[in-house]
Amino acid sequence: MTDPSVQAAASSAATGATGADRLRLEGVSTFYGEAQVLKNISLTVGAGQIVALLGSNGAGKTTLLKTLTGMLAPRSGRILFEGRSIAGLPAQGVIRQGIASVPEGRELFGSLNVMDNLLIGTYSLSAGKRKEALTDRLEMVFSLFPILRERVRQKAETMSGGQQQMLAMGRALMALPKLLALDEPSLGLSPLLVAEMMRVLKEIAGQGEISLLLVEQNARAALKIADYVYVLERGEVVLSGTAREVMESPVIQAAYLGG
Ligand SMILES: Nc1ncnc2c1ncn2[C@@H]1O[C@H](COP(=O)(O)OP(=O)(O)OP(=O)(O)O)[C@@H](O)[C@H]1O
Ligand SMILES: [Mg+2]
Repeated sequence: MTDPSVQAAASSAATGATGADRLRLEGVSTFYGEAQVLKNISLTVGAGQIVALLGSNGAGKTTLLKTLTGMLAPRSGRILFEGRSIAGLPAQGVIRQGIASVPEGRELFGSLNVMDNLLIGTYSLSAGKRKEALTDRLEMVFSLFPILRERVRQKAETMSGGQQQMLAMGRALMALPKLLALDEPSLGLSPLLVAEMMRVLKEIAGQGEISLLLVEQNARAALKIADYVYVLERGEVVLSGTAREVMESPVIQAAYLGG
């Protein structure tokens, strides 16, 4: 039998994460009915790291995020967040542990205004934490996305796609997460806005408190900011490495970078 501490040390070294891994998936498999979509997924996100999860349509990226955020229960494997098992917790329980997500399609409340959507992000918090969110964190959100401050009274559904994406990120940040999971935040944005979005993500991680798990089909954009990368195909991790290692892989060049 392998000594688990040796295994943990080996995989931390591989990801560049420190001993204090924020998130660790070990052999996670998820099914829809009898159809197995995730096959034995293992991955690690370190404190303050940006980890990108790349893969083409149908690879299982959203399924992985839903498994992480408690919308789907894995059939086997372990999900550890700061060393505690969270597999099988309901979505609200996962948020309380410190994992917030920006879902595919944003899922804002369109008829509510910007401020009300941001407030919804704080509903999972205790009274004390909510106070912190409504002061310091709200200020951080407004300084990351100045347009949200200017538009606090505007209905979400009348915002542009890029503004809605910023609002969805702001709402997730209001839950005071330690890990922010984002499902294709660049989808539908202009190249200029994609670059701006990536800059903001880098800034969030750079502050050191929030780790990011970034699901993207836009490999080029994600590789620019990621510390570590996993490539998912048909529900399996087929490649992982530092952004530089993955960028230099001929398979990735051909399949994702058009070169
Ligand atoms: N609710 C569901 N019931 C059954 N099968 C599903 C369900 N949701 C997704 N799938 C299947 O699971 C597989 C993975 O889907 P998933 O949405 O996780 O892929 P993805 O990598 O996020 O793709 P995309 O880049 O298109 O968003 C696909 O084959 C999909 O058809
Ligand atoms: Mg998806």
